[in-house]
Order: sequence, then C-alpha cells, then structure tokens
Amino acid sequence: MMKRFVLLLSLGLATSARAESTADVWQAKCAVCHGGDGKAQTKMGQKESIGDMSRPDWQRARTDAALRKVIAEGDPRNSKMKSFKDTLTPAQMDALVGYIRTMKAPSPP
Ligand code: HEC
Repeated sequence: MMKRFVLLLSLGLATSARAESTADVWQAKCAVCHGGDGKAQTKMGQKESIGDMSRPDWQRARTDAALRKVIAEGDPRNSKMKSFKDTLTPAQMDALVGYIRTMKAPSPP
C-alpha cells in the first residue's frame, strides 16, 4: 500500500519535471535576478547592474553560444551568475537561450 503510494508520487514528480516549460524554468531559476521579462528590474538587477535583455543592442552584441556558455558555466565577470550545468539539462539550457531571444523588444522605428 505505502510502496504503491511512493511509486505513484515519484512517477508524478518525474512527469511534472519533464513537463516543466522553459518559461517555468525561467521563472523558477532566473527571474529573481533577471526579472520575468529579462529587464532585470529587481533588487539584484539594480545592485549588480544586470543588463536589460529586452534591448535590441544587448541582443545583437551576444551570440547564442556566448549566452549558452554563461548559463552553463557562470559569468566570469560576475560571480552572482552561477553555473547551471549541474541543475539544468543541456536541452533546458539550449531552450533558455531561445527564451532569452524572445525577450527582445521591437526595435524603435
Ligand atoms: C542570483 C542572481 C542571478 C540568477 C538567479 C541568474 N542570473 Fe544570470 N546573471 C546574473 C548576473 C549578476 C549577471 C552578470 C551581469 C550581466 O551580465 O548583466 C548575469 C549574467 C547572465 C547572462 C550573460 C549576460 C551577458 O551580458 O552576456 C546570461 C545569459 C544569464 N545571466 C542567464 C541566466 C539564466 C538563463 C538564469 C537562470 C537559469 C540566470 N541567468 C540566473 C545574475 C543571476
């Protein structure tokens, strides 16, 4: 009886982990500093002068590979940005790069 309950519980957890969307990962692991919209209008954002990811010039100045590397390995310029390679899968890190690209605000006319 108890065993079956534990099995069901762990199945449930495994399923929800897989179903977690990239937006959920962003909200859970990144938004506290970078903000839900990537603009970093957060306490940490102000303290550390975190860049505004919605800015077209911010987006333009960074390659996907560079973003991916910082997510995996942390930012050598700022130790507050930690390595996520032990907490996220490679697929999740790839997806976060794509998610950051969706934050780009339309360029001014
Ligand atoms: C504890 C606060 C904090 C958390 C949580 C955090 N970051 Fe950062 N992140 C920073 C800081 C500080 C920097 C360095 C300042 C900057 O680059 O604007 C940074 C830099 C970055 C950069 C490089 C920016 C650049 O200028 O090239 C990327 C990409 C990034 N973070 C993505 C993420 C992602 C994705 C997550 C969630 C998985 C995340 N961060 C979670 C604080 C955080």
